Amino acid sequence: MTSQTYLSELFSLDDRVAVVTGGSSGIGRAITEALARAGARVVVVARREAELAATVAALEEHGCRAAWVSADLSTRDGVRTAAEEAAAVFGEPDILVNSAGVNLRPPLGELGEDVWDATMAVNLEAPFLLGQRFGPGMAERGFGRIIHITSQQAHRALVQSGAYGVSKGGLESLARSQAEAWSPYGVTSNTLVPGFVMTPLNARLSSDPEKVTALAARTLIGRNGLAEDFAGAAVFLASTASAYVTGQSIFVDGGFSVH
Ligand SMILES: NC(=O)c1ccc[n+]([C@@H]2O[C@H](COP(=O)([O-])OP(=O)(O)OC[C@H]3O[C@@H](n4cnc5c(N)ncnc54)[C@H](OP(=O)(O)O)[C@@H]3O)[C@@H](O)[C@H]2O)c1
Repeated sequence: MTSQTYLSELFSLDDRVAVVTGGSSGIGRAITEALARAGARVVVVARREAELAATVAALEEHGCRAAWVSADLSTRDGVRTAAEEAAAVFGEPDILVNSAGVNLRPPLGELGEDVWDATMAVNLEAPFLLGQRFGPGMAERGFGRIIHITSQQAHRALVQSGAYGVSKGGLESLARSQAEAWSPYGVTSNTLVPGFVMTPLNARLSSDPEKVTALAARTLIGRNGLAEDFAGAAVFLASTASAYVTGQSIFVDGGFSVH
């Protein structure tokens, strides 16, 4: 057996179908490219059509099969419509990645119910509803991979964790609940935990060079994260290689969390 055949047996996503929310930007976009280049047919879900179309066009240039669905995941109806439209493209997904997220972080004392609701809807409720829609089918078919993107704030309070940290803490618990429910049937659920990654999500912080340098200094590797840093971990969690990994939080943070 050649090394290529061996690696392919472990990690290939040929014949898999993936749905990636927030797959048109930042970490989600890098994960979308990784899954698609590893063989999966990927449906990208987000709101802005130009970014979605550009993501799919770039994948098609690599010879990948991809499609997009424009949807607003901040309402239950939006999530339900998105799920049906996504499943209609290449069929029911084997892999679900929840990367869509919002980062609203006023100081807790000033945090109103509107921010709480908006944060919980996109960061926690949409992943829950998508899991309820796709998880049972994955279990019935005997294979599924659910990957959530959480945050340092799921584990510790820093830089105004507020509702955002609560939503990400809930998401880590959701992964464990999903793992408990469906792992006996071949469906794993895990989270990837970033450190600080320069993406449009944190444009305000990224434009402050002093803070960016200070955050890089908090890692062990000595730099902030890049969206591409998530490619390998995402392919691993989406593949058969990770069959015995479930309910876990996997830190892709350059060592930010370990000191
Ligand atoms: N960057 C970091 O340092 C960092 C750190 C920890 C955790 N994370 C988490 O990683 C994930 C990805 O973040 P990122 O940095 O890659 O952010 P990003 O570049 O801003 O991407 C966010 C994605 O979510 C989509 N989205 C946002 N609201 C949506 C809605 N209501 N409906 C549908 N799609 C929506 C956006 O597309 P549209 O705007 O077009 O809808 C975009 O595709 C998030 O869950 C975030 O909390 C990021």
